[in-house]
Amino acid sequence: MSENTLVTYGMIGGGEGAFIGDVHRHAINLDGKAKLTAGCFSRTMANTLATGAALHIEKDRLYETYVDMAKAEASRADGIDFAVIVTPNKSHFPIAKVFLEQGINVVCDKPLTTDFSQAEELAKITKENNLLFAVTYTYSGYATVKHARAMIAAGDIGEIRFVKAEYPQEWLAERIEDSGQKQAAWRLDPAQSGISNCVGDIGSHIENTVAYMSGLKIKRLSARLDNLVEGRLLDDNATILVDYQSGAKGLYWASQIAIGHDNDLSIQIYGSEGTIRWRQEEPNYLEVAYKDKPAMRISRGRDTLKERAESLVRIPAGHPEGYFEALANIYKTYVAALIKKRKGKALNAEDMDFPQPEAGVSGVQFIEKCVESSKKDAAWVDFKES
Ligand SMILES: NC(=O)c1ccc[n+]([C@@H]2O[C@H](COP(=O)([O-])OP(=O)(O)OC[C@H]3O[C@@H](n4cnc5c(N)ncnc54)[C@H](O)[C@@H]3O)[C@@H](O)[C@H]2O)c1
Repeated sequence: MSENTLVTYGMIGGGEGAFIGDVHRHAINLDGKAKLTAGCFSRTMANTLATGAALHIEKDRLYETYVDMAKAEASRADGIDFAVIVTPNKSHFPIAKVFLEQGINVVCDKPLTTDFSQAEELAKITKENNLLFAVTYTYSGYATVKHARAMIAAGDIGEIRFVKAEYPQEWLAERIEDSGQKQAAWRLDPAQSGISNCVGDIGSHIENTVAYMSGLKIKRLSARLDNLVEGRLLDDNATILVDYQSGAKGLYWASQIAIGHDNDLSIQIYGSEGTIRWRQEEPNYLEVAYKDKPAMRISRGRDTLKERAESLVRIPAGHPEGYFEALANIYKTYVAALIKKRKGKALNAEDMDFPQPEAGVSGVQFIEKCVESSKKDAAWVDFKES
């Protein structure tokens, strides 16, 4: 496969009326290195056909079920190189498994699965079949997040003492799930969402972004999950205390009833020499404070970032990069790794700088441990060491 060979992919989910599938397609298109050639965009064939027609996909590559799609694509000489899974949480495992078993690489949205042993199984099959698997924890794709990660790894803010991270949203402050709002309806339905709504949906982003940025590993946690809007079967707010293996401490808050907040993920990492603060709603900047020095604001595009982060800066300062670019950075790295691997070259750590299945496994463990702790009245529960 030459450097310029177009990689092809198929999508499961992301039909007309869906949210994140279209974001994935735009993010992939930003770099123009992969082409959508197959799909099972919905559980309804009419939607798959309509979505496929709008996206100019050949009719014989539009499938009624993801099982048909995996089998048919695996048997074609020009079959897809990777499958993108953007369906509700509970279906991630069976869909990912069938593609991996057919020898097809997978990109799957978070949370990886709704069960820890299933997440471990996907990681195992990926390794056994020598495939590449990315879990799209979008925020790890921001150049500023990568810069913070490199700063922390280099010891810029000293030893980490405390992490305060929150992800407040307001969109579930009322029972919009009753009015048929599709994204709310499945997230609050345990049959489709799994054992948690709020922690699974956005607490998982906190867990991953903190882990990626700081390198900290959770030792144990104490969580209280609340159903603050009456009548819900799953949580819409969560407060979580964390102890890390290093001895550092953390406090996480995830909420979908926080009126006045859109997608206000914010991470503050306090070290012995300084503090780093990053906000997803202003992702072009990173605030840094050191002892005895004026605080500073690092600007993507204006200030030179650490090497890996700088390599992902696309446009000059003041022209904002955002959510699409962050996801595009994950795909850019993933597709480049696929091409390099096809050419028989070894992949290094930078080539593999996209969220690995192990990050997905850790995320699922986080969700399960939060639910377990909350059921025991916020008792401390230990993390299984990885
Ligand atoms: N990384 C992020 O920042 C981010 C953001 C939003 C959502 N997500 C994740 O993406 C996933 C989808 O979320 P969404 O908000 O786009 O949901 P959505 O309801 O908008 O879309 C889900 C799509 O999956 C389709 N679908 C369901 N079952 C299917 C099946 N068996 N075969 C084929 N298609 C099927 C539905 O028809 C729909 O088109 C969830 O796991 C969610 O956690 C991630």
